[in-house]
Amino acid sequence: MGKHDHENGVKVEELMRRGGPCLAVCGGKHCTRAGAKQVLRAAQAALDEAGLGETVSVILTKCQDYCDDGPAMTVLPGAYPYVELDRESARQVVLDHVRDGQPVLERLHKRARRKLERRLARAERE
Ligand code: FES
Repeated sequence: MGKHDHENGVKVEELMRRGGPCLAVCGGKHCTRAGAKQVLRAAQAALDEAGLGETVSVILTKCQDYCDDGPAMTVLPGAYPYVELDRESARQVVLDHVRDGQPVLERLHKRARRKLERRLARAERE
């Protein structure tokens, strides 16, 4: 049993296995304290604004291990972890990434951002 197993919500890995488009908002205690509920509401409103409210689900998860950088929200499919979100940046992630297919590099967790930057640079060289 992991240290966060007492928390409500599903694990983000479970959502990855299920497949399907989804915004996995961390409902762990650190992210909740940092404003996860506002992020969740902003993400849902932005999905509605983009006409995707019926297609993409918003689900609260257990801790995603970005506790020092919360609130965290992972965009699936692809498992793009966004961190340090607020209402405005959550909306931007939905409109730019989910609707327009353009990940918001400056809001991605640094490991994911470096990986994506390397992939983009490689694609440019080819
Ligand atoms: S509480 Fe959200 S990442 Fe740990």
